[in-house]
Amino acid sequence: MSNTDNSRRTFLALASAVPSVIAMSGVASAQSSGTCVVAQPSDKRGAIVTGSSRGIGAATARRLARDGFPVTVNYLTNRALAEAVVRDIEAAGGRAIVRRGDVADPAAVKALFDANDEAFGGVDVVVNNAGIMNVGPFAQMTDEAFDRMMATNVKGSFNVLREASRRIRDGGRIISLSSTIIKMSPPGTAAYAATKAAQEVYSNVLAKELGGRNISVNAISPGAVDTQLLRQHGEEALRGIPEATPLRRLGEPEDIANVISLLCSPDGTWINGQNVFANGGIA
Ligand SMILES: NC(=O)c1ccc[n+]([C@@H]2O[C@H](COP(=O)([O-])OP(=O)(O)OC[C@H]3O[C@@H](n4cnc5c(N)ncnc54)[C@H](OP(=O)(O)O)[C@@H]3O)[C@@H](O)[C@H]2O)c1
Repeated sequence: MSNTDNSRRTFLALASAVPSVIAMSGVASAQSSGTCVVAQPSDKRGAIVTGSSRGIGAATARRLARDGFPVTVNYLTNRALAEAVVRDIEAAGGRAIVRRGDVADPAAVKALFDANDEAFGGVDVVVNNAGIMNVGPFAQMTDEAFDRMMATNVKGSFNVLREASRRIRDGGRIISLSSTIIKMSPPGTAAYAATKAAQEVYSNVLAKELGGRNISVNAISPGAVDTQLLRQHGEEALRGIPEATPLRRLGEPEDIANVISLLCSPDGTWINGQNVFANGGIA
């Protein structure tokens, strides 16, 4: 038998197994009647934004609060910055709490969701944003840098999405941060890009697993956004990017928060199982 025949048989076996996998997970029994359930402003529960002490996460936390969601701000090391985000939200009339928690630790992720549920009565939005970027050519990437990035970006995202899948209310929205880098493949970014490609795969599969409950699950792929994640690598990391971008500038965290806001709004309902590239046109 040829390799092609083998691949086709494997695919068909997997496809026919999908309904029983869903039934085993209990997802089918949770399906709603199919009416459009969209969280209404008066009924909004918590939005958890992992890694929201700064950068894209902080802008997203502020924006979702402005959209009417009570927000759980999460951080790993920068408590002062996270508290400043909460103060901004409260000063603008919103509600927010702050919780430290390493997404790489499943118990910490569970505690983060517990804190959100206790404060806000449930979760309607999860923005799986926390991430780190270690770069270097294959020949120079250390085991430690590789393992830390896998623990945060791949295992951490899995921990967050697993908890989200267990708790999010019908009509909820789940968004994970991938990256345009998965299309561009610049030298030195293989390991980081691999962790970001995982976000697209996670979202595609989870959108199907949560089918029937009006929950959308998407990835968003920013281009270069002016945050500490890039700036930590020096000016060199940013050189040439505005010129190579049709809109002729770097992205700002608010550019991404705006798209996340759209995905969480009633107007974003029909976008599901997608990787939304938000990058000013660079590719
Ligand atoms: N900036 C870009 O150009 C760009 C482009 C495409 C995709 N992305 C993705 O967008 C996301 C946010 O990036 P950013 O540029 O905003 O990064 P950033 O400015 O470096 O902020 C990262 C955030 O993640 C938190 N964090 C890091 N490790 C964590 C952990 N183990 N547990 C919990 N929180 C953790 C940090 O908390 P502390 O401050 O407390 O350490 C911080 O709040 C990342 O997933 C990144 O891969 C960024």
